[in-house]
Amino acid sequence: MLELEHLSKIYADGTRALSDINLFVRQGEIVSLIGGSGCGKTTLLRLIAGLDRASAGAIKLDGEALSGPHPSVGIVFQEPRLLPWLSVFDNIAFGLDHINATERKARVEHALEKIGLSEHAGRWPRDLSGGQQQRVAIARAFVTHPKVLLLDEPFSALDAFTRASLHEHLLGLWEETRPTVVLVTHDVQEAVTLADRAVVMQPKPGRIFDELPLTLSRPRDKTGLPFETSVRRILTALDHSLNTPQQQPQRERDRQAAALWW
Ligand SMILES: Nc1ncnc2c1ncn2[C@@H]1O[C@H](COP(=O)(O)OP(=O)(O)O)[C@@H](O)[C@H]1O
Ligand SMILES: [Mg+2]
Repeated sequence: MLELEHLSKIYADGTRALSDINLFVRQGEIVSLIGGSGCGKTTLLRLIAGLDRASAGAIKLDGEALSGPHPSVGIVFQEPRLLPWLSVFDNIAFGLDHINATERKARVEHALEKIGLSEHAGRWPRDLSGGQQQRVAIARAFVTHPKVLLLDEPFSALDAFTRASLHEHLLGLWEETRPTVVLVTHDVQEAVTLADRAVVMQPKPGRIFDELPLTLSRPRDKTGLPFETSVRRILTALDHSLNTPQQQPQRERDRQAAALWW
């Protein structure tokens, strides 16, 4: 279980990027963070990944406090960030130095098969399309078998068809080892396609506005009414998040949030 307790971040220039974030994510759960630019989504992932330090609060993984980069926590960014001087195979194998050569080769080959790039193992990253490069970045994150995988808008630079195929590749890899996933996205349909729960954030300071469970069965039928209803609920919550000033009393915010469950 990943626990964020009373997490706050104030940058050196005084920007209150996050205020009192409380979030518990079950092992194997996929949680999607949604909210406009500047809500603190990237800041939150960077704190969990140990790339930056919180101003207050705690991050715990299975009860153990995280206070820096941890081998059980992986991260994928919007851009693939592959190492241009390594082949596709070696990019995926990059974090597996501690594993014996036979097991390393088996894991990389299996991952390449899962993302449909077996025949591209020897290529350079520059010879792949953007979508293929991001598939390699995702495979690289999964092969280390992290307990927690953080994804910061990993599909937002891709076209809709490529994005849909990456959703399938992501779920295919996730099903094998079932890491906890925290996925940042702007795309409400993407959240409903992938997540077990949507967490809607609000800016200035960045905080959690509302949470909506996504209990649709998998694989998810994007043309069905339950899918459409979930999309509308999240859109309604996002709309309220933009129109609910932070000074509003908590009781009124609770009332408005409850009203979303029509
Ligand atoms: N290194 C930094 N120094 C100062 N302010 C920052 C820094 N990084 C982000 N911010 C600010 O913190 C807020 C949250 O940013 P960010 O986490 O990038 O949000 P999001 O990913 O939701 O767009 C924004 O107001 C942003 O300008
Ligand atoms: Mg961001």
